[in-house]
Amino acid sequence: MTITALRGTYDILPPQSYIWEKAESQARKMFALYGYSELRTPIIEQTQLFSRSIGENTDIVSKEMYTFADRKGRSITMRPEATAPVVRAYIEHKLYKDQSLCKFYYIGPMFRYERPQAGRNRQFYQLGTEILGTEHPYHDAESISLAVSYFKSLGIDNIVVKINSVGDAESKQKYNSILKNFFAGSLDTMCPDCNTRFEKNTLRMLDCKVPACKEIIKNAPPLNENLNDASKTHFESVLALLDKMKIAYEIEPRLVRGLDYYTNTIFEITHSHLGSQDALGGGGRYNNLIAEMGGPQTGAVGFAVGIDRLVIVLEKMTANNSTITAGSDLDLYILNLDNALFTDHAELLHSLRQHDIRADICTEQKSFKAQMRSANKANARFVLIQGQNERDNNIFKLKDMINGTEEDIKTINNNVDIDKLVERIRQS
Ligand code: HAM
Repeated sequence: MTITALRGTYDILPPQSYIWEKAESQARKMFALYGYSELRTPIIEQTQLFSRSIGENTDIVSKEMYTFADRKGRSITMRPEATAPVVRAYIEHKLYKDQSLCKFYYIGPMFRYERPQAGRNRQFYQLGTEILGTEHPYHDAESISLAVSYFKSLGIDNIVVKINSVGDAESKQKYNSILKNFFAGSLDTMCPDCNTRFEKNTLRMLDCKVPACKEIIKNAPPLNENLNDASKTHFESVLALLDKMKIAYEIEPRLVRGLDYYTNTIFEITHSHLGSQDALGGGGRYNNLIAEMGGPQTGAVGFAVGIDRLVIVLEKMTANNSTITAGSDLDLYILNLDNALFTDHAELLHSLRQHDIRADICTEQKSFKAQMRSANKANARFVLIQGQNERDNNIFKLKDMINGTEEDIKTINNNVDIDKLVERIRQS
């Protein structure tokens, strides 16, 4: 029996990997533009880190974590998200001591044991940011504007920013009892999940997708109308800043998120190409998490984008002729027409690469036609040809694979003027 990748995991092969590379390098560029530095945390963490931050009663913690006992019996979890690990690192290294404000970004795999479907995997990838040490509404707006600018920089339109506020701890608690009163009379017509959530995590009932429940939920009291004054002011300031930045948003008064640590602003960014798993990214503010995890009482805000879903959107755009195409893989491909010349050609290849020319050589002894096919497959811009005939005439032939022209490159004592050749290749 052959061994295949695990369900919900997959290989990213070229040319698709070009799109991943483009998405990630563009993210690094944008993050640098906004003043964020990279923070890398381990894939594995103590299980408690996630159960205490994301919340025991969330789907992620109660059903979806890859948790196992290590050889000493300690409970280990493969990170389902990166906010909690970033907060752990911030506290562990006392990063709040050197700087009042820390701005971090991360890119990497996350793990959730979900039912796989298009845009939903068990190993998936996120890129995201966290700003720690701030309660300023500007940073909520900056997180949203960074995400939106990032999508725009990749040529992605048709995104929708959905925004809401769950309020501070006091507002959340008050709203929870309002919601309990509202749902109490309808529980027997609602699904078993809603019934469980009623006891354990009432807010999450707003996210139920069962049609009968949705009918009831649509009349639930809106979250943002039940905020205390401080939470209301914060939310209004965020919206005013978004207006100034001309970032379009929709207030979704019943939007909730699947993680418990949020306070105040929450948001999701959706895209119409994505079907039922339409959230390209999401995030929000978490003012109490750092203190709850043993750090100082200070606020934070961040977001994460699902790269798997982003790539789905980019691939659809590529099919529609977008700007994202795999660039030419190689600048130059050297044919292998005479084995006696191979080591000289390998030496030339080595110096070309040292001059930053993306080059490769054919090692197989096959027909000229077959070697040209390999050059084409490698997307080579130029092909360098030298058989015994050319050698005797002190030349290489340089073939331009785009316009089909051929020119002679002179050699002296079998040596090419490498600077001239490099310059010629760079000219195109
Ligand atoms: P999240 O909404 O759980 O938030 O995940 C963010 C994004 O990751 C989603 O919008 C989606 O694009 C992607 N994603 C989630 N699960 C999967 C999956 N199984 N397969 C593919 N993509 C998935 C967080 O993780 C928070 N840590 C975001 C945050 C940062 N909040 C504050 N700071």
